[in-house]
Amino acid sequence: MSVGSEISVAQLESDPYPIYAQLRAEQPVCFVESVGLWLVTRWDDVQYVDKAPDLFTGETEPSTLNRTFGKNLLGSEGAYHDRIRKIIYPWFRVGAIGDYPDKVVAPIANELVDSFVDRGSADLVSEFAEPLSARVLKQALGLSFVEEDTLRRWFVELATGAANFEGDPEKQAVADAASAEVDETLAPVIAQLEHEPDDTLLSSMVNTQVDGQRLTRAEIQSNLKVMIVGGLQATTDLIGLSLWAILSHPEQFEEVRADPTLVDPAIEEAARWHSPVGTSTRQTTRATELGGVQLEQGSLVAAVLASANRDERNWQDPDRYDIHRREGGHLAFATGPHLCIGARLARYETRTAWRVLLDRLPNLRLDPARPIEISGWEFRSPHHLDVLWK
Ligand code: HEM
Repeated sequence: MSVGSEISVAQLESDPYPIYAQLRAEQPVCFVESVGLWLVTRWDDVQYVDKAPDLFTGETEPSTLNRTFGKNLLGSEGAYHDRIRKIIYPWFRVGAIGDYPDKVVAPIANELVDSFVDRGSADLVSEFAEPLSARVLKQALGLSFVEEDTLRRWFVELATGAANFEGDPEKQAVADAASAEVDETLAPVIAQLEHEPDDTLLSSMVNTQVDGQRLTRAEIQSNLKVMIVGGLQATTDLIGLSLWAILSHPEQFEEVRADPTLVDPAIEEAARWHSPVGTSTRQTTRATELGGVQLEQGSLVAAVLASANRDERNWQDPDRYDIHRREGGHLAFATGPHLCIGARLARYETRTAWRVLLDRLPNLRLDPARPIEISGWEFRSPHHLDVLWK
């Protein structure tokens, strides 16, 4: 019997790593009935899928993403995708957001720490990572005037549409209402930015012209929604997961404390070890063979980034968290044409979050009374991260 018929969604959600190990060993390209997807789990095959958009397209049919947001970066390929990406990318360059760590992220992080520093204990997910990620994203996108709770609700409702693979009309109605609300909210802001540009991503999307091309109103709206869905939860999760990774390895934590240059490799290793975004979802444009398996045209494929990041063919002792690992880059931000456009911002946020916490919370450690709970396979999230300090 195929391994894929035995795997349940509940197993994947609670701890996918033993399943990925089994799939890599026995069926590296395997149809998993419970999720209706071919899971591709080895490093080489995952890279191959991400880097061959003509064969494995992000423009799936139907596309929950395009249906909910309108056609956007993640749901398009080829010349269309290149055009949009070229116009949006400049805002994410070092030259444009290089001052974010000190100017934007650190002040917000410090303000959040102020609110709980005297207490000696906190949940670093709900009291720190989550609001930090929301506030930075609001500022970056140009949505400072939007309430944090509204941004969160948009995220939840838009994500409901993005994950509505079963086409449930009630779920779609919720997502469509949120989508319309975002458009309505943006309309007057976009009109103003056309005359009075500022330093936000929204303004850049409105005013950037590359090779004589600009984004249409619909493209600005759809891509802003992708940024909300792509940028909020994943960044919260990387901050939470990376802090947990280091705090659950106290000897390595001591090393980082003694040598702050280890912060960046420690975060990269955490992104490899527990990748916040688990998969790149694609569809075959024609019949093809992958890992000895014949895939029909139109097959839905999940290239499992989180599994590639633990592939023993590419990593020594991959289940170990090791901040001194020097084995090359991981795939937590994917690769190929859809390589995460927000990766630099996410890294700035996570590194600055660490810096501020290390500076301000002496003797930081996990609260042994409240061990972490983590779930999810497409998006892997810590539910809380309870810590203590002096
Ligand atoms: C730790 C945080 C983040 C992680 C782990 C992450 C991960 C990813 C991954 C894996 C992809 C590729 C998905 C695929 O291949 O199907 C992606 C794409 C994308 N991400 Fe991120 N992301 C993060 C933060 C952000 C932020 C902060 C933003 C925006 C403000 C963002 C915006 C996007 C966009 C727009 C795409 C689509 C790019 C394209 O299709 O060309 N992400 N991200």
